[in-house]
Parts: sequence; C-alpha cells; structure tokens
Amino acid sequence: MQRMTETRPRVFVTRAIAPEAIAKLRKHAIVEVWPRDTPPPYAQLKGRAREVDALLTMVTDRIDAALIAAAPELRVISNLAVGLDNIDIAAATAAGIAVGHTPGVLTDATADLAFALLMAAARRIAEGDREVRAGKWRTWGPAVLLGRDVFGATLGIIGWGKIGRAMARRGRGFNMRVLYTSRAARENEPVLGGTQVSMTRLLKESDFVSLHVPLTPQTRHLISTKELALMKPGAILINTARGAVVDQRALYRSLKDGHLGGAGLDVTEPEPIARKDPLRKLPNVVITPHIGSATDTTRNKMADIATENILAVLNGGLPRFCANPQVVVRRVSGG
Ligand code: DGY
Repeated sequence: MQRMTETRPRVFVTRAIAPEAIAKLRKHAIVEVWPRDTPPPYAQLKGRAREVDALLTMVTDRIDAALIAAAPELRVISNLAVGLDNIDIAAATAAGIAVGHTPGVLTDATADLAFALLMAAARRIAEGDREVRAGKWRTWGPAVLLGRDVFGATLGIIGWGKIGRAMARRGRGFNMRVLYTSRAARENEPVLGGTQVSMTRLLKESDFVSLHVPLTPQTRHLISTKELALMKPGAILINTARGAVVDQRALYRSLKDGHLGGAGLDVTEPEPIARKDPLRKLPNVVITPHIGSATDTTRNKMADIATENILAVLNGGLPRFCANPQVVVRRVSGG
C-alpha cells in the first residue's frame, strides 16, 4: 500500500462491503479493499496486516498471534460479525490493538434464520422442494412427507443472549413452551416467558434445541454423543452459532441411527462443509451456507458499525462495540 509520503492511516478491508461504509472510511484513511469474493489467503492477509493501522475483517479471516506479531502498526481489528472466535483477542490486547465487533444489529436476522431452519427441518421443506424438482411429486398422499408439529411444541434454547432471546420470542409466537440454559439466571426461574432449566433437563424435554452460544474453549463440542443421546427421540437440532459447538460426527451417528429426527445447520465445521461429509447425504438435514445475518439492511448496519469502530480508534478512542475495553491502544509513528 502507498506509504512513503502519505500520513493518513491505512486500512485493509478483507472483502467488498457496503459502498457507503467504504466511502466513509476513505474520507479519513487510505483504504484497500480485497477485490475477490473469497477471503484473502492467510499469507496475503498477514502481508497486508504488516502495513496497515486498521483491519476490517470477516469471520473467515484468521487473525492469530503470529499475524498480530507481524503487524507493528496495527491499532484496530474490526470484525464484521458479532462472533469473535476468528480473532486471538488476548494477543491483540497484549499488543495494544483494539478489537471491535457488531452486536445487536444482526439479532433479528439471525433469529429469523434459526426459526426458518427449525420450520424447514420440522416440515421437511427442503426435502419436499427436492422431490418436486426431481419430478417425484406423483400425488397427494396421506403419509407423504409427514413432519413434526411446531405449534405448541417445546423449544430449548442453549445460550440466553440477544439472539437466544429473540429466538424465544419467535417460539412464543408459535405458542411454544420455551426452556433455556444460561450462566446468569437460576433453575426454574421464568424470564421473558421462558424457564431456565439445567442442560440435561432441556435436552430431555425439548422437541427442538437451538444453539446460541459463542464458540469458546468451553463450548467446543458442547453437543456431542452424550448430549445427543439425552435428546428426545425424534427431536431436531438447530445450529446458527458456530459449527464447532456441535460434534458433527456424533450428530451424524445420532441422525443415521434414527434417534434424532433432523437438524438445521447454518454453520458447520469446517466451512464450507467438507464435500465428503456424510451429513450432506442425509435427507433430514437442512444446511445453509452461514447466512444468519445475510439481509441487505443487516449487512449495511454491520458495515456501518464496523467502520465506526475503526474510525473511533483512528481518532484516539475505543470502538463503540469493543471486545477488549481494557486495551491500551498502542501509539505508532504518525498516529
Ligand atoms: C456473526 O456475526 O458472528 C455471524 O456469524 C456472521 O454474521
């Protein structure tokens, strides 16, 4: 990137985002936008990080300690996401780099998608669509594509943050009994029309289990063989959080054995899901390509916040939505 005579800060944006957001950044900085619609390879990203004051990143960009160590002037990493599992926040904090993210604005879009997956898996919508397109719709039939009732069923929500609670509101619209687990509230305490229960009870009693926890070392493979075995026969698992929250092999076994009734996955491990992953072959699994926040207005709002988070740091402050507010942002030459 241009450097020698230019004193304005430099920003690297790892994918094309809303043009208004880029234009706003360009008023204050020299901005490079990665031109392809796939992520910059790690080596390229590391090379750019070496030269810039700010990175505007996506969930697909791995920002690890090695990349951070190679970025002497970096002051802010602004993730176009609420989730931050792609960033080594401890390494960023130690290096004096603020980390921003975009919570709040994607809550409803993500909960909408989670509920859409729940409906699709329960009522076998993707299977039906595939049958129609394949010319297999022969007649109306009393036993054709029988699904599961959603109205009045029990919805178990693991993770009672903003998105989990938004999912609960959708469930209540369908007269569902809502159970949830949370680190904060107490067992059997009704909150916002949901009842907090233990994880075991939630798994045993729910017809639908929906995951809304961040990916951390504690939540990696939170749902594995033991948890799936506790779920009701025929229950459906929904994951719009992160793929690695679920042990996918265990999920496959449970679906294949006929214990679980189905799954709706917007996230997988890895992404994209491996071509050979046997989950792709199961008719009762609906898989979307990590599109929880993918609506026009939501992505525009995320881009705006991600931009503001960068500008705040370039102006000597902290991101409005800062994952490491304790950080002492490093000073750099000309900064
Ligand atoms: C997030 O925000 O963390 C999503 O996974 C991407 O929108």
